[in-house]
Amino acid sequence: MSKLESIDLNKCPEHIAIIMDGNGRWAKKQGEMRLFGHTSGVEAVREVLKGCVDLGVKYLTLYAFSTENWNRPKEEVDGLMNLLVETIANEVTELNENEVRLLSIGDPNQLPDACRMELEKAKQKTAKNTKVNLILALNYSARWEIINAVKKIASNVEEGEYTAKDISEEHFVNALCMPNIPDPELMIRTSGEYRLSNFLLWQIAYAELYFTDKLWPDFSKEDLFEAVYDYQSRERRFGLVSEQLT
Ligand code: FPP
Repeated sequence: MSKLESIDLNKCPEHIAIIMDGNGRWAKKQGEMRLFGHTSGVEAVREVLKGCVDLGVKYLTLYAFSTENWNRPKEEVDGLMNLLVETIANEVTELNENEVRLLSIGDPNQLPDACRMELEKAKQKTAKNTKVNLILALNYSARWEIINAVKKIASNVEEGEYTAKDISEEHFVNALCMPNIPDPELMIRTSGEYRLSNFLLWQIAYAELYFTDKLWPDFSKEDLFEAVYDYQSRERRFGLVSEQLT
């Protein structure tokens, strides 16, 4: 029996964020190069996306490449960039068939031209889709996003849009990469690591965190359902006490 049958579809998270970790270790276990792990990780992305369609999840944000990942061996960085170009190009038809809209967060300027161009093309070709929004975090880190937001706010203050003492949470959110997207209610990290690794630090202030030992290429639709089932057992109090929630 699929765990899907035990899930209350009316209480699913609207936005799930995932740190897809463990590709390298997965490849090593099979005696393969690290890149083989990343290539195999693409199948897990497909699975999870289908799972989001089943659950009615509207936003899926995946940490595909962090600003720190540039420091990996050149061979791995080049391989990952090529994989992203190929995957994005190959998946557009299927994204459209499943009504998935592709978006991205992060600084695109440092990405290789081919990657930036393929990403832009795919975003345009899927722009009208409304079932699921797949947000790729590419050359992203939360500290970069926060510094960027502070710069925008400082410039707004300089231009007299508002004063420093009037700066509000709303101004801050508006200066982040995706102001109009609800915060993730559920953050998943695979591979048995208990870290947030500079991912969506502002947005996950109230997210439920779910960690699993599964390595990313082994993460399946059923594992996603397991995470959502676990999420539904949590009491989200947002600083209140239990009795105030009823
Ligand atoms: C972390 O595992 C994974 C990455 C840095 C890259 C993830 C990218 C993919 C799965 C490709 C996805 C493609 C699309 C289009 C979304 P790791 O290398 O840190 O693993 P390790 O901790 O075992 O070394």
